[in-house]
Amino acid sequence: MNTDSRNESHDSLRAVQWRGDHLRLLDQRKLPFDEQWLDRHTAGEVALAIRDLVVRGAPAIGIAAAWGVVLAAQRGDGLDAAVATLRAARPTAVNLMWALDRMRARIDAGADAAVLAREAQAIQDEDLAANRAMGAMGAALIAPGSGVLTHCNTGSLATAGFGTALGVIRAGYASGKIARVFADETRPWLQGARLTMWELQRDGVPATLIADSAASHLMKSGQVQWVIVGADRIAVNGDTANKIGTYQLAIAARHHGVKFMVVAPSTTVDLATPSGEAIAIELRNPDELLGYAGQRTVAEGAQAWNPVFDVTPHDLIDVLVTERGVITRPDAAALGAMFGNQGKR
Ligand code: MRU
Repeated sequence: MNTDSRNESHDSLRAVQWRGDHLRLLDQRKLPFDEQWLDRHTAGEVALAIRDLVVRGAPAIGIAAAWGVVLAAQRGDGLDAAVATLRAARPTAVNLMWALDRMRARIDAGADAAVLAREAQAIQDEDLAANRAMGAMGAALIAPGSGVLTHCNTGSLATAGFGTALGVIRAGYASGKIARVFADETRPWLQGARLTMWELQRDGVPATLIADSAASHLMKSGQVQWVIVGADRIAVNGDTANKIGTYQLAIAARHHGVKFMVVAPSTTVDLATPSGEAIAIELRNPDELLGYAGQRTVAEGAQAWNPVFDVTPHDLIDVLVTERGVITRPDAAALGAMFGNQGKR
């Protein structure tokens, strides 16, 4: 079996599916025990699905938003309002804004619904191709027999397919580079426990769950050589916003001599954001921390603070992998050289 076909056999899931006149989404709030698909027929419904985390993960929400614009065009709904509603669904992942800007450019050029549908399909197809390319490049950096730790869910559920950090893990496992995969729970929404563990198990990649608070202890034990994560927005200087808890993993990794890899398509690089300071961090409802699955777990009257992303300073990142190539020790000079001419936003 060559590496490509082995990769295929570890990549069976497509969570965002266009059905000609509606968008079908695998409801990620219900996984892993309930595989429920929801059909969304308007841009407003897609925006709500993004806000409520039916669909989540930076590339996936960009793709879903692009299809939301197509739905508005097909129905003759106002495109300006549709784009504005979709853009406001979540603040941190720049892939959402990037995809809408790309659709906006087509609208401004006079595109009809059919042309917009081709553009949305191109965004989705390009993401899958980028993930496969990043998977190969990232895996090539890893010594055979290594252990890795990942955070949140960056797999097929979070992208057009294959995944970013999880794509590197898929490719690394298929090629024998990765011998051990650890996933942390990713409280409070449990993307790691509920989604990554399910996705890896389903695709035949053995993984071990740890509590978020076990990460430093795991690194100290010598079982992992790399922490591999995705990104929601990468500033021009390489500072990287990702799921809350990523920053503390990067600090712990540096302390223990474990390498830290960020894997993200170029659509996550935001040339309009000079550094992490300027990245809007989404604050979600404290109820996500104060209870679980509708059941209160904290004393009545208690308060909670629930930022759902943090920013890892670029000097804690050893390697940034995008489909355009690998940057070691990412900084403004290196990102400028690779992305300076991409003419975005
Ligand atoms: O709140 P989420 O689940 O949308 O957050 C997702 C993440 O932080 C991912 O790590 C990131 O979007 C990269 S997904 C390829």
